[in-house]
Amino acid sequence: MDTIRVAVIGTGIIGQTLAARFVQAGHIVTMGTRNPQRDDLVELARRAGASLTSIEDAIHSAEAVVWAINGSAMADAIPAYGQHLADKVVIDATNNIGAPSMNSLALITEYAPTAHAYRAFNSLGWENFANPRYGELNGDLLYTGPTGPTQAVAENLIESTGLRPIRVGDNDKAKIVDDFVALWFSLAIGQGMGRELGFKILTR
Ligand SMILES: NC(=O)c1ccc[n+]([C@@H]2O[C@H](COP(=O)([O-])OP(=O)(O)OC[C@H]3O[C@@H](n4cnc5c(N)ncnc54)[C@H](OP(=O)(O)O)[C@@H]3O)[C@@H](O)[C@H]2O)c1
Repeated sequence: MDTIRVAVIGTGIIGQTLAARFVQAGHIVTMGTRNPQRDDLVELARRAGASLTSIEDAIHSAEAVVWAINGSAMADAIPAYGQHLADKVVIDATNNIGAPSMNSLALITEYAPTAHAYRAFNSLGWENFANPRYGELNGDLLYTGPTGPTQAVAENLIESTGLRPIRVGDNDKAKIVDDFVALWFSLAIGQGMGRELGFKILTR
């Protein structure tokens, strides 16, 4: 797999997990935060094998940017940082639960019209990125976004977690991916099946 310079924006549990998995796959990972001087965050990034810097510097260091902050914070973050996202692969892993749209793809398109936006890493709990194995099988990860050269970058990052990428279509199909968030919560939490729950698409 090609080495990718990737920025993970957000130092929460999903940001930490994805950063660590990307590092393990050989990518060069910079975590971006509002608080790059905080010792606990520096240590957290070091444990993942990543470096830590400001959101702006992390974006500048990377060819691919994974957003892993609170979904509701995207309304402020994307207008603020959109100009720096031009021409990059931008992956929206955030869920704005309760908002009219769970994803922030429209904001990314508005403020970074030349970015190559993908919807991925949002439909499973973090445990399933840390360990994608279910008995004999590896799980799948549904995503949307454009075909073409940047698709290989998005798929490379998904494969770095051990999950198989399944492209649902262009970003007009992102709601299908987002509906799997509701399914995941209904099964994992509502039905008590537990957070180590993945999805598998079967074909014959
Ligand atoms: N937890 C999961 O299993 C999971 C799975 C898939 C997707 N997601 C989605 O991923 C996102 C993060 O989830 P999480 O569980 O990792 O949350 P979390 O632990 O609460 O972390 C959220 C991070 O967002 C950053 N943040 C908050 N407001 C911000 C702002 N205005 N500007 C910049 N950064 C801001 C904070 O980073 P700093 O304080 O370092 O700046 C914080 O560390 C959410 O949208 C969630 O829906 C979560």
